[in-house]
Amino acid sequence: MVLRLLRLSNLSIIIFLLSLLQGQNITDPGAVLYRESRTSEVVERRVTLECGTTLPDMYIWGFTKPGTDKMRVVVYNFGKGPKFQQLAKDLGDLNIISNTSSLSIEKLRLAAEGLYTCQAMYDTDEGFRLFYYYMYLRVLVPVSKPYVSLGESSAVEGSTFLMRCGLENGTGPIHYTWEQESYSGLVTTLAESNSSVLIITWVTRNHTGWYRCLARNEVNQQRSDRIWVDVLFGPDLPEIQATAYSVTENGYSVLEKGNVSLRCQASSNPPSQYIWLYNNSEIYSGPEVTIIMALRMHTGVYGCTAKNMILNTWSKKTVTLTIYYPPDGGPSCSILPVNNYTDLALFCSWVGGFPPATLNWSPYVNGDNREGIVNVTRIQPGPDTANNTVFFCYGSHVALNVTQSCSTRTWLPYGEPQCSANSSSNNEYLMLSCSWEGGFPRALLWWVSSSGDTQGTSEENSNILVLRSSANYSGKAFVCHAKHPLAKESKRCVVNLDAPVLITRNRTVSVFEGTDVQLTCFLAKHYPPVLEITWYNNLKQNVGDTPMKYILQQGAAWSNLTVRETDSRVDSGQYWCSAANAVGGTEIPIMLLVMKYPMPPNVTVTKITYSSRQRTDVNVEWQIQMDGDITGFFIEIQRLSGPVGRSDIDPLWQKVAVDLEPSTRSYQINNLDPTGKYAFRVTAVNQRTVGNPSELKSPGEK
Ligand SMILES: *[C@@H]1O[C@H](CO)[C@@H](O)[C@H](O)[C@H]1NC(C)=O
Ligand SMILES: *[C@@H]1O[C@H](CO)[C@@H](O)[C@H](O)[C@H]1NC(C)=O
Ligand SMILES: *[C@@H]1O[C@H](CO)[C@@H](O)[C@H](O)[C@H]1NC(C)=O
Ligand SMILES: *[C@@H]1O[C@H](CO)[C@@H](O)[C@H](O)[C@H]1NC(C)=O
Ligand SMILES: *[C@@H]1O[C@H](CO)[C@@H](O)[C@H](O)[C@H]1NC(C)=O
Ligand SMILES: *[C@@H]1O[C@H](CO)[C@@H](O)[C@H](O)[C@H]1NC(C)=O
Ligand SMILES: *[C@@H]1O[C@H](CO)[C@@H](O)[C@H](O)[C@H]1NC(C)=O
Repeated sequence: MVLRLLRLSNLSIIIFLLSLLQGQNITDPGAVLYRESRTSEVVERRVTLECGTTLPDMYIWGFTKPGTDKMRVVVYNFGKGPKFQQLAKDLGDLNIISNTSSLSIEKLRLAAEGLYTCQAMYDTDEGFRLFYYYMYLRVLVPVSKPYVSLGESSAVEGSTFLMRCGLENGTGPIHYTWEQESYSGLVTTLAESNSSVLIITWVTRNHTGWYRCLARNEVNQQRSDRIWVDVLFGPDLPEIQATAYSVTENGYSVLEKGNVSLRCQASSNPPSQYIWLYNNSEIYSGPEVTIIMALRMHTGVYGCTAKNMILNTWSKKTVTLTIYYPPDGGPSCSILPVNNYTDLALFCSWVGGFPPATLNWSPYVNGDNREGIVNVTRIQPGPDTANNTVFFCYGSHVALNVTQSCSTRTWLPYGEPQCSANSSSNNEYLMLSCSWEGGFPRALLWWVSSSGDTQGTSEENSNILVLRSSANYSGKAFVCHAKHPLAKESKRCVVNLDAPVLITRNRTVSVFEGTDVQLTCFLAKHYPPVLEITWYNNLKQNVGDTPMKYILQQGAAWSNLTVRETDSRVDSGQYWCSAANAVGGTEIPIMLLVMKYPMPPNVTVTKITYSSRQRTDVNVEWQIQMDGDITGFFIEIQRLSGPVGRSDIDPLWQKVAVDLEPSTRSYQINNLDPTGKYAFRVTAVNQRTVGNPSELKSPGEK
């Protein structure tokens, strides 16, 4: 006890009290009592510290400042009323409550905190009794209004952020509560702790909002004003929205000549700055880019770059914009034979455009109404299809509001295939022609020889088989087969080949010379047609080489050769009529006999006289010695220089009358020289022959 007292007491007081005790003689050691208590009060308020229940005879209030061990006297009363020491003023407004030893402190000051010791002595019948009251007084300070201070002016998403709850006054321990008020006004408690610092290790944009802290101690609690924390973030990956025709795998599609708006949105604080790119080149800055009247060339990759200008961060998104445009024109239809010309392939095509056009055939072919794109082929059984059936192909495209169509019509060629054979101009080749035209699709034609082998290639519509000429083909047949999908069976036509055969009516023709004569020959069977019948004359020369002499007339199957003005010396002999085609040739001889006319009969001058004395005119009369072919007479005259019949006769005969009618038997010759001497003779003629002249006679001779 003494040790404790020693530790707590001011030395001078102890000495004073000890001397007191010694003087008063404390008989019972149990007469010293110790009481300890603790109390607390808020600064500026009032507190009463009690020292026993009854007023002691003497008391001393001492005060020991915390952290020291020196007790100092505040007030004492040794019976003459309380005496306050200088120190009391530092503690507040001090009073001793009347009739007690209780110490009342008003306007409690902060410095009043510490250990109060009241020593109270009672002088009783049993001697002195001493009481020690130890009271520890804590002076509490209410928390002042806290304030929030930020580590940095703005928070950045993903980083660490620090906030401090600042407080000027307040007795600890102080408890801190952090509250966040979101944009929407929702208040949430973020943290409660004894630390004034709030650390957000990973800031998110959700941390944006009003913040305040609440400080609390055992006296009170206070809220700070709210402070706005702006969290910088972004930009996030942009989202691109479009007012477009449709959404595609990588973006959007637009009909050509339509409008499209692309809108970019990327969350960011501060708000994003947007830049639009087309195929990586910048085209526009701003969140929304609009293309009026989009054309197919606007197809491409559109990118949106969002930038946070403060954080200097960016993000990018791209979309593919596809412009849908229709193919040009309309679909085109056709029909092709398939499966060896037994079936029809209906083919419809409409190329170009994007996306590809959609096509379908109507009526539904073969029960198949599937749609196709760009090129559609449907198989239709041929023989089930009627002649003149119309098929339609309808094409549609998203970028066109009307359906386009084409149609095609089946067409079975009329009648039968037509065959023919021809020879080349020099008969070197045999050409077999076959045709069955006008079909749709076209018919297939092929040639088969008499031995059953297919010759040459198969052709559509018409097929010309060219073979080297050969006599082996004579008497043989070639068959042309024709197949059209609309006809169940194939059709055929035949050519029978024959080398030419010539005939003539007269193997021998005889004629009197001087006239024209016709030689005729006829073609009997022959195929292919003989192009030309050729004639050779008696010298085996082609008559065509001497057109003045020969005239040719040709008919379909005959030929006349006219030999003009036949001459018995040159034109008689064997003539040849010749014909050839690509499967053979022949010639036949025709004998021409050109005969001379018989000699006209001899003429006898029966009478020759001068008609008058003037001797200028002479009458001649004559007779024929026998009947014969006569066409006329002529009379010749000869002037005589000497006596008639003498050897010095002038040899010059002059015709004085010609072409006298065959019936004429007399003639008068005029205008003679009366002094001259003349001789006359008469000659008979027929077509070509001049007869023997008559004996020459002179007038007057009898
Ligand atoms: C803190 O306490 C001191 C001294 O008591 C006083 O002067 C000051 O005004 C107080 N501050 C606040 C914010 O209450
Ligand atoms: C923000 O809060 C919303 C709703 O509470 C939540 O869906 C979202 O994930 C939060 N964002 C972040 C970045 O934490
Ligand atoms: C843009 O790119 C697309 C395909 O990537 C291309 O078809 C188009 O021609 C390009 N446009 C230009 C103007 O280069
Ligand atoms: C095609 O048809 C012809 C007769 O119609 C026949 O000879 C030929 O063998 C056929 N070809 C095929 C590949 O079926
Ligand atoms: C098929 O129809 C067309 C058109 O009417 C007609 O010209 C043709 O002759 C017909 N074919 C047959 C084999 O009837
Ligand atoms: C061809 O000659 C024959 C007799 O040789 C004759 O009957 C026929 O009329 C002649 N034809 C022509 C067109 O001159
Ligand atoms: C006709 O006359 C010729 C000589 O002038 C003679 O040779 C011939 O015998 C005569 N013919 C007849 C049938 O008398």
